[in-house]
Amino acid sequence: MIRFISRVFGVEVNAGKAATLTKNTMRAVEFNGEKNAICVYNDGNAFYATGGKCSHYGAPLIMGGFSSGKVYCPWHCACFDVKSGMKVTSPAVQDIGSYKTSVNSDGDLIVSLPEDVKEPAAYINKGLVKRDPSNTQQFIIIGGGAAGLTCAESLRKNNFTGSIKILTNEDINPYDRVTLSKNFRMNALKTIIRADNFYTDFDIEILKQTPAKGINIKEKTVLTENGSINYDKLLIASGCRARILKGFEGLSNVCTIRSVSDHIKIKPLVESSKNIVIVGGSFLGLEAANAIKNTWADKEVTIIESEKVPLERVMGRTIGGLLKRRLEDKGVKFLTDKIASNIQKHDNKAVSIDYNSGSIPCDMVLLASGSEINTSFIPKELLNADNSVRVNALMQTDDPNIFAAGDIANYYSIYSGTSIRSEHWTVAQDQGITAGLNMLGLGKPHISVPYFWSNQAVNMQFVGTSGEPGFTESKDLGGKDEGHITYFFNGNKTVGVGIANWFGASWIFNSLFEKGLVPNKSQILGGKKFEDLKEEFKKYA
Ligand SMILES: Cc1cc2nc3c(=O)[nH]c(=O)nc-3n(C[C@H](O)[C@H](O)[C@H](O)COP(=O)(O)OP(=O)(O)OC[C@H]3O[C@@H](n4cnc5c(N)ncnc54)[C@H](O)[C@@H]3O)c2cc1C
Ligand code: FES
Repeated sequence: MIRFISRVFGVEVNAGKAATLTKNTMRAVEFNGEKNAICVYNDGNAFYATGGKCSHYGAPLIMGGFSSGKVYCPWHCACFDVKSGMKVTSPAVQDIGSYKTSVNSDGDLIVSLPEDVKEPAAYINKGLVKRDPSNTQQFIIIGGGAAGLTCAESLRKNNFTGSIKILTNEDINPYDRVTLSKNFRMNALKTIIRADNFYTDFDIEILKQTPAKGINIKEKTVLTENGSINYDKLLIASGCRARILKGFEGLSNVCTIRSVSDHIKIKPLVESSKNIVIVGGSFLGLEAANAIKNTWADKEVTIIESEKVPLERVMGRTIGGLLKRRLEDKGVKFLTDKIASNIQKHDNKAVSIDYNSGSIPCDMVLLASGSEINTSFIPKELLNADNSVRVNALMQTDDPNIFAAGDIANYYSIYSGTSIRSEHWTVAQDQGITAGLNMLGLGKPHISVPYFWSNQAVNMQFVGTSGEPGFTESKDLGGKDEGHITYFFNGNKTVGVGIANWFGASWIFNSLFEKGLVPNKSQILGGKKFEDLKEEFKKYA
């Protein structure tokens, strides 16, 4: 039974007997009727208390993992420092509260909430500074997406008081792009991550509908339609755009899903269509098929996909096959091992799509056939042959004043041992943070473990980097449910794991990759199991 003891200077919450919160464990504490308001931890040396919910989408942290002073969110692997409540890795953006603990003479663990804390689980921004007009430094960020926003936050969190300008070619504050393909019912305008007052409170200027047209490295200026803007340090985080297949351009019933404006266009198109064809069984195409079926079960949805099994290359054959079956259960049809080759048009509309062995009628086409990076305005000397931006471990380009992060950045990954480019939300967010730190000269290499998720007919997550899918561990979850972990190898090194419906695996792998403790290929093929790794994880809590 939890007791609340009001004091003049705050509220003390009884978090139960200290002795039963054993080393390396955590416990949820109820407050004012809210079950997971607070989480308390024992790392063997001391007790800590934080808000009980993840600041990303509100997951109860008690369901996640506690390791090495960090609590991992059960849903998408964000983690927070239990001493300070500070967010350590994305996709969370804000911090959570951290509260003083003590043990009273009855052996009860007491959490002391300051008087002004009405909701201990509320999200907060810790340690951001405001602009100081006497600081004349100008930092420019090109791109108001995942990496652009976290870079600005990282600068203000690390005492940068100069000017920050974010240039974006969109007409909206940075928003939660990943939700766009997962739900077509929602109001996309409500996906903005930070409201206007955040930018005014911390003097972060967003120049909307202001695309960068060029960069003059010598003059240290960014060129826009309205003139040039000087910079002392520059971050380029211009992301990707959807690839439009040749012949599909400009048709009124063909759409892509990349931005809020795309999302707004899709809903009425779906509602007025019977036959919907999705070109490309990528994550986006599959998520979109799932989202359409979730809302409009009667629509005919067909995916044209070039691989035999969707996502085979990225998640492995077992997980890709499971996802295909689950989508088929919802009525989604697949034309696999097929390539859309031509489009038949009438009155500026697509009426059917030809593929290598047939043709399919369509009232609407959703193109999910890949993306292209937005780097045409960047000086060639900063680009690789594939037009990605070359950066070192500090996310710094060949010019010391220019940094790049997110989808456009080709960086050295300590986890794969190679240079890679990644198109994932959390990676872009964490790279934006790293870039911010290094624009301030702090010399912090990018080390966070790459991670992505895709919640759809199957709960899928990936930790690490891509490699050869080599071995799959499976478990029967009862009924039709199956859980799988597919290990990806590069030589004898395990570089990544694809996870399907396996609760708890993501943060354990995240933590073990970080510590270099994921077993290699020989050990996994020799019988090392996920259960063994769970024990390993507990040792470090
Ligand atoms: C619909 C959708 C769903 C996704 N779902 C997932 C998911 O579930 N999990 C996951 O890990 N990843 C997901 N991703 C990928 C993820 O969103 C990207 O990897 C991430 O947004 C990349 O961040 P970024 O900052 O590099 O670029 P972006 O977030 O794309 O932001 C770039 C911004 O720069 C702007 N811009 C471009 N050119 C210029 C210019 N010249 N001047 C000024 N501004 C410019 C763009 O308009 C955009 O606003 C999804 C992507 C999409 C499109
Ligand atoms: S809800 Fe915690 S990371 Fe998404």
